[in-house]
Amino acid sequence: MTHIITRACCNDAACVPVCPVNCIHPTPDEPDYGTAEMLYIDPDGCVDCGACVDVCPVGAIVADYDLTDDFARYEEINARYFSDPAHAEYDAEPQTPPRRVWDLPSAEPLKVAVVGSGPAACYAAEELMSQRGLAVQVDIFERLPTPGGLVRFGVAPDHQDTKAAGSAFARTLRRRGVRLFLNAEVGRDVSFEALRSRYHAVVVAVGAMDDRPLGIAGEGLPGSHSATEFVAWYNGHPDYADRTFDLGHERAVVIGNGNVALDVARILVSDPEALARTDIADHALEQLRKSTVKEVVVVGRRGPLEAAFTTKELLGLAETPAADLVVRPEELRLSEDQIAAAGERSVALYKVELMAELGTRTPSHERRITLRFLASPDEIRGDGWVESVRLTRNELVADQGRTVARPTGDVEELACGLVFRSVGYRGRGIAGLPFDEARGIIPNEAGRILDPESGAVLAGLYVAGWIKRGPSGVIGTNKRCARETVTQLLADLEAGRLPALTDDRDVAESVPGHLDLEGWKAIDDYERSEGKAQRRPRVKLTDVAHMLEVARG
Ligand code: F3S
Repeated sequence: MTHIITRACCNDAACVPVCPVNCIHPTPDEPDYGTAEMLYIDPDGCVDCGACVDVCPVGAIVADYDLTDDFARYEEINARYFSDPAHAEYDAEPQTPPRRVWDLPSAEPLKVAVVGSGPAACYAAEELMSQRGLAVQVDIFERLPTPGGLVRFGVAPDHQDTKAAGSAFARTLRRRGVRLFLNAEVGRDVSFEALRSRYHAVVVAVGAMDDRPLGIAGEGLPGSHSATEFVAWYNGHPDYADRTFDLGHERAVVIGNGNVALDVARILVSDPEALARTDIADHALEQLRKSTVKEVVVVGRRGPLEAAFTTKELLGLAETPAADLVVRPEELRLSEDQIAAAGERSVALYKVELMAELGTRTPSHERRITLRFLASPDEIRGDGWVESVRLTRNELVADQGRTVARPTGDVEELACGLVFRSVGYRGRGIAGLPFDEARGIIPNEAGRILDPESGAVLAGLYVAGWIKRGPSGVIGTNKRCARETVTQLLADLEAGRLPALTDDRDVAESVPGHLDLEGWKAIDDYERSEGKAQRRPRVKLTDVAHMLEVARG
């Protein structure tokens, strides 16, 4: 018997240190953790103790005897990882890191401001608050009246199990020593200078909400949207609630094939009545009910081995009850060299095998998602509205150890009425802080913010999450990222490198319009009780004024 990690895995790795036989991999200390789609349990190592089940924040771990049909493939996926010779050997000793107990001369608590309230911000706060022997006060500043960042506005509404990560973050926000300043935008309601003068350290964890442009003609045509906007719209982000998406077209094309692209495709072809049982925004549900989209074509510039979506997302797509998954077998063909380079037992190759199996089943629905590979858009065409995308066929070539796409010159015109651009998120600069325009991040060294001119560390300023490393990884990847940042911060504290406070007033006096934990609790209770009446997890409020009204009773 063994335990198995399933779809919701967030790579948080809370399960790793509790495993008595170290059979959950990759661990955050192993090289492929940063790129792993999920964590896996070695069926030959697991002693079925169940310890990991209790600590998994998203309930992703089950015993094999409890595995439902929906998750049956995860038994194979977990085993597959360890059947790859690259992962077969590991040290069976437990991985519990020793916990340090601080003994610093100063009795003054360490005051840290965290800007942002998404996963990286919450992991940073949790890491700070769980130091032993160190008095810490963490104040979290969020410009919206609701915390959660991408857990609330990025995770798809039909992935409620992934959203369960929010419960662990809620526990952090309720910790003694943590204060919430919601509806408090740094730069609008409180100045960055005020934070620098009243806190020993400021950790910026605002994420990356802008989208990367394609840089091709026709990108701005009506009917061409960024996936970022669409995701924020259907997830009820207040900034996007008034956007309109005319879904009265038969075919939509999604450019890019990461997990966000697959989320967009799945939402577009899902049965609206199934979505009506989720916390999708009401305005989006109304539009999706009127949708005439029959096919979503997801276009990736490289081949199936390089597909950016994860195996879990592929399985989710194939299981979408209202739609078929379709592939072109000729686009999945791999050479002997490609197979050898990927590794015959690799998870990447397994993903291609799954695509071939799931994408060639006999179609049985009116709606479909078609996965296309080796094609890049070079123009979006239309007269006043999107009418087609011109695709250039690519071939794969090796370039300095990387596999890159090279245009072959063959072109194809794909008729469509909607385009969603999904080639990645990008961070936005913050007034008063340096910004690397090319990479869309705040320049830093392991989380310490750097002056781009001199390369010097800016004392007391830190960064975590996507605005630190770019938009990669899943929710739990931010844990290791935030831990690295906090480790630097604490090293600076110990070395006396943190600036002294120059203003001892409480910042709460400077942001009178903010909401605190009680305000968020009022909004949360309201949304959940509205949801209960409709048999939904919650009905999201999408208007800031309404949220404030609810929060203030
Ligand atoms: Fe197996 Fe989880 Fe215990 S992986 S050994 S049941 S901690």
